[in-house]
Amino acid sequence: MEKKIPHRFYLTEEQMPTQWYNLRADMKEQPDPLLNPATGKPVSEEDLYPIFCKKLAHQEMDATTRYIDIPEEVLEMYKIYRPSPLCRAYNLEKALGTPAKIYYKFEGNNTSGSHKLNSAIAQAYYAKDQGLTSLTTETGAGQWGTALSEACSYFGLPLDIFMVKVSYEQKPFRKAVMQVFDGNVIPSPSNTTNVGRKILAENPNTTGSLGCAISEAVEKAVSTENCRYVLGSVLNQVLLHQSIIGLESKKAMEILGEYPDVVVGCAGGGSNLGGLISAFMQDKLNGTKPNTRFVAVEPASCPSFTRGKYAYDFCDTGKITPLAKMYTLGSGFIPSANHAGGLRYHGMSPILSKLYHDGYMEAVSYEQTKVFDAAVQFAKCETILPAPESAHAIKGAIDEALKCKETGEAKTILFGLTGTGYFDMKAYSEYLAGNMNDYIPSDEDLKKGFDSLPNIK
Ligand SMILES: Cc1ncc(COP(=O)(O)O)c(C=O)c1O
Repeated sequence: MEKKIPHRFYLTEEQMPTQWYNLRADMKEQPDPLLNPATGKPVSEEDLYPIFCKKLAHQEMDATTRYIDIPEEVLEMYKIYRPSPLCRAYNLEKALGTPAKIYYKFEGNNTSGSHKLNSAIAQAYYAKDQGLTSLTTETGAGQWGTALSEACSYFGLPLDIFMVKVSYEQKPFRKAVMQVFDGNVIPSPSNTTNVGRKILAENPNTTGSLGCAISEAVEKAVSTENCRYVLGSVLNQVLLHQSIIGLESKKAMEILGEYPDVVVGCAGGGSNLGGLISAFMQDKLNGTKPNTRFVAVEPASCPSFTRGKYAYDFCDTGKITPLAKMYTLGSGFIPSANHAGGLRYHGMSPILSKLYHDGYMEAVSYEQTKVFDAAVQFAKCETILPAPESAHAIKGAIDEALKCKETGEAKTILFGLTGTGYFDMKAYSEYLAGNMNDYIPSDEDLKKGFDSLPNIK
Protein backbone atom coordinates (compact mmCIF):
# COMPACT_ATOMS: atom_id res chain seq x y z
CA MET A 1 0.00 0.00 0.00
CA GLU A 2 1.26 3.46 -0.84
CA LYS A 3 2.62 5.33 2.17
CA LYS A 4 0.29 8.16 3.22
CA ILE A 5 2.21 11.42 3.18
CA PRO A 6 1.32 13.55 6.24
CA HIS A 7 -0.17 17.02 5.80
CA ARG A 8 2.78 18.47 7.65
CA PHE A 9 6.10 16.73 7.91
CA TYR A 10 8.81 17.86 10.33
CA LEU A 11 12.38 16.68 10.45
CA THR A 12 13.58 16.08 14.00
CA GLU A 13 16.08 18.49 15.55
CA GLU A 14 18.75 15.82 15.10
CA GLN A 15 17.98 15.64 11.37
CA MET A 16 18.46 19.37 10.88
CA PRO A 17 21.34 20.32 8.58
CA THR A 18 24.40 21.58 10.48
CA GLN A 19 26.05 23.10 7.39
CA TRP A 20 24.91 25.59 4.77
CA TYR A 21 25.40 24.75 1.10
CA ASN A 22 27.26 27.13 -1.21
CA LEU A 23 25.82 26.65 -4.69
CA ARG A 24 28.68 28.55 -6.36
CA ALA A 25 30.97 25.59 -5.58
CA ASP A 26 28.99 23.54 -8.12
CA MET A 27 28.42 26.20 -10.78
CA LYS A 28 30.56 25.52 -13.81
CA GLU A 29 30.46 29.17 -14.74
CA GLN A 30 30.61 31.69 -11.91
CA PRO A 31 28.55 34.87 -11.64
CA ASP A 32 30.60 37.90 -12.74
CA PRO A 33 32.50 39.52 -9.86
CA LEU A 34 31.31 42.55 -7.89
CA LEU A 35 33.05 45.70 -9.12
CA ASN A 36 34.41 48.56 -7.08
CA PRO A 37 32.43 51.64 -8.26
CA ALA A 38 35.47 53.89 -7.80
CA THR A 39 37.94 51.81 -9.84
CA GLY A 40 35.71 49.61 -12.00
CA LYS A 41 37.90 46.66 -10.89
CA PRO A 42 36.67 43.48 -9.17
CA VAL A 43 36.35 44.01 -5.42
CA SER A 44 38.58 42.10 -3.03
CA GLU A 45 37.40 40.68 0.28
CA GLU A 46 39.23 43.53 2.06
CA ASP A 47 37.37 46.12 -0.06
CA LEU A 48 34.18 44.89 1.58
CA TYR A 49 35.38 45.22 5.19
CA PRO A 50 34.16 48.82 5.65
CA ILE A 51 30.63 47.71 4.73
CA PHE A 52 30.30 44.11 5.94
CA CYS A 53 31.81 42.31 8.91
CA LYS A 54 34.81 40.16 7.99
CA LYS A 55 33.30 36.67 8.11
CA LEU A 56 30.40 37.81 5.94
CA ALA A 57 32.75 39.51 3.48
CA HIS A 58 34.59 36.19 3.30
CA GLN A 59 31.36 34.27 2.64
CA GLU A 60 30.44 36.80 -0.01
CA MET A 61 33.62 36.09 -1.96
CA ASP A 62 33.95 32.36 -1.26
CA ALA A 63 32.94 30.52 -4.43
CA THR A 64 34.70 27.24 -3.63
CA THR A 65 33.82 25.95 -0.15
CA ARG A 66 30.86 23.68 -0.83
CA TYR A 67 29.59 23.22 2.73
CA ILE A 68 30.06 25.74 5.54
CA ASP A 69 29.48 24.88 9.22
CA ILE A 70 26.58 26.72 10.81
CA PRO A 71 27.98 28.21 14.06
CA GLU A 72 26.65 26.53 17.21
CA GLU A 73 25.09 29.81 18.47
CA VAL A 74 23.20 30.21 15.17
CA LEU A 75 22.00 26.60 15.24
CA GLU A 76 20.74 27.08 18.79
CA MET A 77 18.54 29.98 17.72
CA TYR A 78 17.47 28.17 14.53
CA LYS A 79 16.15 25.39 16.75
CA ILE A 80 13.64 27.78 18.36
CA TYR A 81 11.65 27.86 15.11
CA ARG A 82 13.20 25.22 12.87
CA PRO A 83 13.01 22.69 11.29
CA SER A 84 10.16 24.28 9.38
CA PRO A 85 7.38 22.02 8.10
CA LEU A 86 7.18 20.55 4.62
CA CYS A 87 3.46 20.58 3.89
CA ARG A 88 1.40 18.64 1.39
CA ALA A 89 -1.38 20.85 0.01
CA TYR A 90 -4.00 18.11 -0.24
CA ASN A 91 -6.94 20.53 -0.07
CA LEU A 92 -5.51 22.81 -2.73
CA GLU A 93 -4.85 19.83 -5.00
CA LYS A 94 -8.48 18.77 -4.53
CA ALA A 95 -9.83 22.26 -5.15
CA LEU A 96 -7.82 22.50 -8.37
CA GLY A 97 -8.73 18.98 -9.48
CA THR A 98 -5.12 18.38 -10.43
CA PRO A 99 -3.25 15.09 -10.53
CA ALA A 100 -0.14 17.01 -9.40
CA LYS A 101 1.24 16.60 -5.90
CA ILE A 102 1.80 20.03 -4.36
CA TYR A 103 4.26 20.52 -1.53
CA TYR A 104 5.25 23.72 0.16
CA LYS A 105 7.95 24.59 2.64
CA PHE A 106 6.45 26.96 5.21
CA GLU A 107 8.88 29.53 6.60
CA GLY A 108 6.38 31.81 8.36
CA ASN A 109 6.45 30.21 11.78
CA ASN A 110 8.37 32.87 13.70
CA THR A 111 7.54 36.41 14.82
CA SER A 112 9.15 38.00 11.78
CA GLY A 113 6.64 35.91 9.83
CA SER A 114 9.11 34.87 7.16
CA HIS A 115 12.28 33.14 6.03
CA LYS A 116 14.27 36.32 6.67
CA LEU A 117 15.23 35.21 10.18
CA ASN A 118 17.47 32.47 8.71
CA SER A 119 19.99 35.03 7.49
CA ALA A 120 19.31 37.68 10.16
CA ILE A 121 20.51 35.36 12.92
CA ALA A 122 23.68 34.49 11.01
CA GLN A 123 24.49 38.11 10.20
CA ALA A 124 23.84 39.40 13.72
CA TYR A 125 25.91 36.56 15.17
CA TYR A 126 28.96 37.27 12.98
CA ALA A 127 28.71 41.01 13.74
CA LYS A 128 28.62 40.38 17.48
CA ASP A 129 31.44 37.87 17.18
CA GLN A 130 33.60 40.54 15.52
CA GLY A 131 32.88 42.98 18.37
CA LEU A 132 30.79 45.44 16.36
CA THR A 133 28.59 47.73 18.42
CA SER A 134 25.71 48.48 16.03
CA LEU A 135 24.20 47.58 12.65
CA THR A 136 22.09 49.29 9.99
CA THR A 137 19.80 47.84 7.40
CA GLU A 138 16.90 48.52 5.05
CA THR A 139 13.54 46.81 4.95
CA GLY A 140 10.85 46.70 2.29
CA ALA A 141 7.81 44.81 3.45
CA GLY A 142 9.11 44.86 7.02
CA GLN A 143 9.81 41.16 7.43
CA TRP A 144 13.56 41.60 7.12
CA GLY A 145 13.59 44.53 9.56
CA THR A 146 11.57 42.50 12.03
CA ALA A 147 13.78 39.46 11.61
CA LEU A 148 16.97 41.45 12.08
CA SER A 149 15.50 43.26 15.10
CA GLU A 150 14.78 39.88 16.65
CA ALA A 151 18.27 38.63 15.90
CA CYS A 152 20.00 41.84 17.09
CA SER A 153 17.99 41.89 20.26
CA TYR A 154 19.00 38.23 20.88
CA PHE A 155 22.68 39.05 20.43
CA GLY A 156 22.48 42.50 22.11
CA LEU A 157 23.24 44.78 19.13
CA PRO A 158 21.53 48.17 18.51
CA LEU A 159 19.96 48.43 15.03
CA ASP A 160 18.79 51.26 12.72
CA ILE A 161 16.26 50.18 10.09
CA PHE A 162 15.50 52.30 7.01
CA MET A 163 12.01 51.21 6.01
CA VAL A 164 10.67 51.94 2.49
CA LYS A 165 8.18 54.74 3.02
CA VAL A 166 5.24 53.08 1.28
CA SER A 167 5.50 50.04 3.55
CA TYR A 168 6.03 52.23 6.62
CA GLU A 169 2.73 53.92 5.82
CA GLN A 170 0.88 50.76 4.78
CA LYS A 171 2.01 48.73 7.78
CA PRO A 172 2.16 50.81 10.98
CA PHE A 173 2.09 47.73 13.18
CA ARG A 174 5.23 46.37 11.56
CA LYS A 175 7.06 49.28 13.10
CA ALA A 176 5.65 48.41 16.52
CA VAL A 177 6.90 44.82 16.23
CA MET A 178 10.38 46.01 15.31
CA GLN A 179 10.26 48.34 18.30
CA VAL A 180 9.35 45.42 20.58
CA PHE A 181 12.79 44.10 19.63
CA ASP A 182 14.39 47.56 20.14
CA GLY A 183 14.80 48.29 16.40
CA ASN A 184 14.97 52.01 15.51
CA VAL A 185 12.73 52.43 12.44
CA ILE A 186 13.19 55.38 10.04
CA PRO A 187 10.96 55.88 6.95
CA SER A 188 13.08 56.07 3.77
CA PRO A 189 13.97 58.30 2.05
CA SER A 190 14.63 60.33 5.19
CA ASN A 191 16.40 63.55 5.98
CA THR A 192 18.82 61.74 8.32
CA THR A 193 21.34 60.97 5.55
CA ASN A 194 22.92 62.93 2.68
CA VAL A 195 21.64 60.48 0.11
CA GLY A 196 18.11 60.56 1.57
CA ARG A 197 18.05 64.36 1.47
CA LYS A 198 19.26 64.31 -2.13
CA ILE A 199 16.60 61.81 -3.22
CA LEU A 200 13.90 63.83 -1.45
CA ALA A 201 15.07 67.06 -3.07
CA GLU A 202 14.83 65.46 -6.52
CA ASN A 203 11.54 63.67 -5.89
CA PRO A 204 9.74 64.98 -2.77
CA ASN A 205 6.69 62.72 -3.22
CA THR A 206 8.57 59.49 -3.71
CA THR A 207 7.16 56.46 -1.93
CA GLY A 208 10.70 55.15 -1.64
CA SER A 209 12.27 51.93 -2.82
CA LEU A 210 14.59 49.27 -1.50
CA GLY A 211 17.36 50.86 -3.57
CA CYS A 212 16.95 54.20 -1.71
CA ALA A 213 16.75 52.53 1.68
CA ILE A 214 19.93 50.54 1.00
CA SER A 215 21.80 53.76 0.13
CA GLU A 216 20.74 55.36 3.39
CA ALA A 217 21.61 52.32 5.49
CA VAL A 218 25.06 51.96 3.87
CA GLU A 219 25.82 55.66 4.36
CA LYS A 220 24.83 55.46 8.03
CA ALA A 221 26.97 52.34 8.56
CA VAL A 222 30.14 53.67 6.94
CA SER A 223 29.83 57.01 8.77
CA THR A 224 29.33 55.41 12.22
CA GLU A 225 32.19 53.93 14.17
CA ASN A 226 32.20 50.16 14.71
CA CYS A 227 28.99 49.82 12.76
CA ARG A 228 28.32 47.74 9.67
CA TYR A 229 25.53 47.32 7.17
CA VAL A 230 23.59 44.12 6.64
CA LEU A 231 21.36 43.22 3.72
CA GLY A 232 18.50 40.75 3.78
CA SER A 233 18.63 39.56 0.18
CA VAL A 234 20.49 39.61 -3.16
CA LEU A 235 23.96 38.87 -1.77
CA ASN A 236 25.72 35.53 -2.06
CA GLN A 237 26.07 35.31 1.73
CA VAL A 238 22.29 35.65 2.17
CA LEU A 239 21.58 32.87 -0.33
CA LEU A 240 24.09 30.75 1.56
CA HIS A 241 22.24 31.21 4.88
CA GLN A 242 18.90 30.59 3.18
CA SER A 243 20.18 27.29 1.76
CA ILE A 244 18.84 25.76 4.99
CA ILE A 245 15.36 25.96 3.39
CA GLY A 246 16.27 23.73 0.45
CA LEU A 247 18.50 21.40 2.47
CA GLU A 248 15.67 20.70 4.91
CA SER A 249 13.17 20.33 2.05
CA LYS A 250 15.37 17.87 0.21
CA LYS A 251 16.00 15.76 3.29
CA ALA A 252 12.30 15.71 4.19
CA MET A 253 11.32 14.76 0.64
CA GLU A 254 13.95 12.02 0.60
CA ILE A 255 12.44 10.53 3.75
CA LEU A 256 9.00 10.71 2.11
CA GLY A 257 10.33 9.12 -1.08
CA GLU A 258 9.69 12.26 -3.13
CA TYR A 259 11.67 14.57 -5.43
CA PRO A 260 10.25 17.69 -7.09
CA ASP A 261 9.76 17.94 -10.86
CA VAL A 262 9.23 21.68 -10.52
CA VAL A 263 10.44 24.06 -7.81
CA VAL A 264 8.68 27.42 -7.63
CA GLY A 265 9.51 30.50 -5.58
CA CYS A 266 8.83 34.20 -5.47
CA ALA A 267 11.75 36.43 -6.38
CA GLY A 268 12.43 39.82 -4.81
CA GLY A 269 16.19 39.93 -4.48
CA GLY A 270 16.32 36.16 -4.77
CA SER A 271 17.18 34.97 -1.26
CA ASN A 272 14.31 32.58 -0.54
CA LEU A 273 14.30 31.28 -4.08
CA GLY A 274 18.06 30.80 -4.07
CA GLY A 275 17.83 29.10 -0.67
CA LEU A 276 14.98 26.83 -1.71
CA ILE A 277 16.45 25.73 -5.01
CA SER A 278 20.15 25.39 -4.10
CA ALA A 279 20.17 21.78 -2.94
CA PHE A 280 18.03 20.71 -5.92
CA MET A 281 19.95 22.86 -8.40
CA GLN A 282 23.10 21.03 -7.27
CA ASP A 283 21.58 17.84 -8.72
CA LYS A 284 20.73 19.60 -11.97
CA LEU A 285 24.21 21.07 -12.27
CA ASN A 286 25.95 17.77 -11.61
CA GLY A 287 23.63 15.90 -13.96
CA THR A 288 21.91 13.55 -11.48
CA LYS A 289 18.52 15.29 -11.96
CA PRO A 290 18.87 17.18 -15.24
CA ASN A 291 15.17 17.70 -15.86
CA THR A 292 14.05 19.51 -12.72
CA ARG A 293 12.51 22.87 -13.59
CA PHE A 294 12.99 25.99 -11.49
CA VAL A 295 10.51 28.83 -11.79
CA ALA A 296 10.99 32.32 -10.39
CA VAL A 297 7.79 34.32 -9.90
CA GLU A 298 7.86 38.09 -9.80
CA PRO A 299 5.32 40.93 -9.84
CA ALA A 300 4.39 42.34 -13.23
CA SER A 301 4.97 45.76 -11.65
CA CYS A 302 8.66 45.03 -10.96
CA PRO A 303 9.72 42.47 -13.58
CA SER A 304 13.51 42.24 -13.07
CA PHE A 305 13.91 38.80 -14.67
CA THR A 306 11.20 38.88 -17.32
CA ARG A 307 11.78 42.39 -18.63
CA GLY A 308 15.08 43.43 -17.07
CA LYS A 309 18.54 43.58 -18.60
CA TYR A 310 21.49 41.38 -17.64
CA ALA A 311 23.98 44.12 -16.89
CA TYR A 312 26.28 45.60 -14.29
CA ASP A 313 24.31 47.88 -12.00
CA PHE A 314 24.39 49.48 -8.60
CA CYS A 315 22.56 47.63 -5.85
CA ASP A 316 21.18 50.93 -4.54
CA THR A 317 19.63 54.14 -5.85
CA GLY A 318 22.33 56.39 -4.41
CA LYS A 319 24.99 54.46 -6.38
CA ILE A 320 27.32 53.93 -3.45
CA THR A 321 27.38 50.13 -3.29
CA PRO A 322 29.57 47.80 -5.39
CA LEU A 323 28.31 47.05 -8.89
CA ALA A 324 26.77 43.63 -9.47
CA LYS A 325 26.11 41.86 -12.76
CA MET A 326 22.47 40.92 -12.52
CA TYR A 327 19.05 41.14 -14.09
CA THR A 328 18.03 44.67 -13.34
CA LEU A 329 15.51 47.36 -14.17
CA GLY A 330 18.12 50.01 -13.38
CA SER A 331 18.87 51.39 -9.93
CA GLY A 332 16.84 54.49 -10.86
CA PHE A 333 13.68 52.39 -11.38
CA ILE A 334 11.07 53.14 -8.73
CA PRO A 335 8.33 50.51 -8.91
CA SER A 336 4.68 51.39 -8.38
CA ALA A 337 3.39 51.12 -4.82
CA ASN A 338 2.11 47.55 -5.12
CA HIS A 339 1.44 45.38 -2.11
CA ALA A 340 4.28 42.92 -2.40
CA GLY A 341 6.74 45.30 -0.72
CA GLY A 342 9.45 42.65 -0.55
CA LEU A 343 9.40 42.12 -4.32
CA ARG A 344 9.88 45.77 -5.24
CA TYR A 345 13.61 45.59 -5.88
CA HIS A 346 15.18 46.69 -9.16
CA GLY A 347 17.85 43.97 -9.26
CA MET A 348 18.27 40.28 -8.58
CA SER A 349 20.78 37.96 -6.94
CA PRO A 350 23.87 37.63 -9.19
CA ILE A 351 23.82 33.84 -8.61
CA LEU A 352 20.23 33.49 -9.76
CA SER A 353 20.79 35.96 -12.57
CA LYS A 354 23.63 33.84 -13.89
CA LEU A 355 21.59 30.63 -13.64
CA TYR A 356 18.67 32.29 -15.41
CA HIS A 357 20.91 33.73 -18.08
CA ASP A 358 22.47 30.30 -18.68
CA GLY A 359 19.07 28.63 -19.04
CA TYR A 360 18.91 26.72 -15.75
CA MET A 361 15.87 28.65 -14.55
CA GLU A 362 12.64 30.11 -15.90
CA ALA A 363 10.70 33.18 -14.78
CA VAL A 364 7.10 34.37 -14.95
CA SER A 365 5.38 37.53 -13.76
CA TYR A 366 1.83 38.13 -12.53
CA GLU A 367 -0.39 41.12 -11.82
CA GLN A 368 -1.24 41.55 -8.16
CA THR A 369 -5.00 40.90 -8.41
CA LYS A 370 -4.26 37.44 -9.87
CA VAL A 371 -1.78 36.88 -7.06
CA PHE A 372 -4.40 37.79 -4.45
CA ASP A 373 -6.94 35.45 -6.12
CA ALA A 374 -4.39 32.70 -5.52
CA ALA A 375 -3.68 33.88 -1.95
CA VAL A 376 -7.35 33.72 -0.98
CA GLN A 377 -7.88 30.34 -2.59
CA PHE A 378 -4.81 29.01 -0.77
CA ALA A 379 -5.87 30.48 2.60
CA LYS A 380 -9.26 28.80 2.36
CA CYS A 381 -7.69 25.44 1.54
CA GLU A 382 -4.61 25.41 3.75
CA THR A 383 -5.52 27.60 6.79
CA ILE A 384 -2.52 29.93 6.34
CA LEU A 385 -2.94 33.56 5.30
CA PRO A 386 0.03 34.06 2.97
CA ALA A 387 2.19 37.16 2.62
CA PRO A 388 1.57 38.88 -0.75
CA GLU A 389 5.18 38.06 -1.72
CA SER A 390 4.65 34.37 -0.96
CA ALA A 391 1.36 34.42 -2.85
CA HIS A 392 3.35 34.94 -6.05
CA ALA A 393 4.83 31.49 -5.53
CA ILE A 394 1.38 30.10 -4.79
CA LYS A 395 0.08 31.52 -8.06
CA GLY A 396 3.07 30.04 -9.89
CA ALA A 397 2.49 26.63 -8.28
CA ILE A 398 -1.25 26.73 -9.03
CA ASP A 399 -0.54 27.43 -12.69
CA GLU A 400 1.91 24.54 -12.84
CA ALA A 401 -0.70 22.28 -11.21
CA LEU A 402 -3.34 23.43 -13.71
CA LYS A 403 -1.00 22.57 -16.58
CA CYS A 404 -0.80 19.06 -15.09
CA LYS A 405 -4.60 18.95 -15.08
CA GLU A 406 -4.56 19.61 -18.81
CA THR A 407 -1.87 17.06 -19.61
CA GLY A 408 -2.87 14.50 -16.98
CA GLU A 409 0.69 14.37 -15.62
CA ALA A 410 1.04 13.73 -11.87
CA LYS A 411 4.05 15.97 -11.37
CA THR A 412 5.51 16.80 -7.99
CA ILE A 413 5.56 20.54 -7.37
CA LEU A 414 7.44 22.17 -4.51
CA PHE A 415 7.00 25.84 -3.72
CA GLY A 416 8.33 28.16 -1.06
CA LEU A 417 5.71 29.65 1.24
CA THR A 418 7.99 32.33 2.60
CA GLY A 419 5.71 33.98 5.12
CA THR A 420 2.41 35.05 6.57
CA GLY A 421 0.38 38.10 5.61
CA TYR A 422 -1.10 39.30 8.90
CA PHE A 423 0.49 42.72 8.47
CA ASP A 424 -0.85 42.99 4.95
CA MET A 425 -4.51 43.37 5.85
CA LYS A 426 -4.72 46.76 4.11
CA ALA A 427 -3.83 44.95 0.91
CA TYR A 428 -6.30 42.15 1.55
CA SER A 429 -9.03 44.72 2.38
CA GLU A 430 -8.38 46.60 -0.85
CA TYR A 431 -8.47 43.38 -2.81
CA LEU A 432 -11.71 42.23 -1.18
CA ALA A 433 -13.31 45.65 -1.78
CA GLY A 434 -12.37 45.42 -5.45
CA ASN A 435 -10.13 48.48 -5.19
CA MET A 436 -6.85 46.88 -6.15
CA ASN A 437 -5.20 48.06 -9.35
CA ASP A 438 -2.72 46.26 -11.55
CA TYR A 439 0.00 48.56 -12.66
CA ILE A 440 2.31 47.23 -15.35
CA PRO A 441 5.17 49.55 -16.33
CA SER A 442 5.21 50.58 -19.99
CA ASP A 443 8.37 50.16 -22.09
CA GLU A 444 8.76 53.91 -21.70
CA ASP A 445 8.70 53.59 -17.87
CA LEU A 446 11.31 50.84 -18.05
CA LYS A 447 13.48 52.87 -20.37
CA LYS A 448 13.86 55.52 -17.64
CA GLY A 449 15.31 52.86 -15.35
CA PHE A 450 17.56 51.42 -18.06
CA ASP A 451 18.88 54.91 -18.76
CA SER A 452 20.29 54.91 -15.22
CA LEU A 453 22.45 51.83 -15.92
CA PRO A 454 26.18 52.49 -15.70
CA ASN A 455 28.05 52.08 -18.96
CA ILE A 456 30.05 48.93 -18.22
CA LYS A 457 30.55 46.11 -20.71
C1 LIG B 1 7.53 37.08 2.94
C2 LIG B 1 8.56 37.45 1.92
N1 LIG B 1 8.77 36.63 0.89
C3 LIG B 1 9.67 36.93 -0.07
C4 LIG B 1 10.40 38.10 -0.02
C5 LIG B 1 11.34 38.38 -1.14
O1 LIG B 1 12.65 38.42 -0.79
P1 LIG B 1 13.71 37.40 -1.39
O2 LIG B 1 13.55 37.41 -2.86
O3 LIG B 1 15.00 37.89 -0.92
O4 LIG B 1 13.38 36.06 -0.81
C6 LIG B 1 10.23 38.98 1.04
C7 LIG B 1 11.04 40.21 1.13
O5 LIG B 1 10.83 41.06 1.93
C8 LIG B 1 9.28 38.64 2.04
O6 LIG B 1 9.08 39.45 3.06
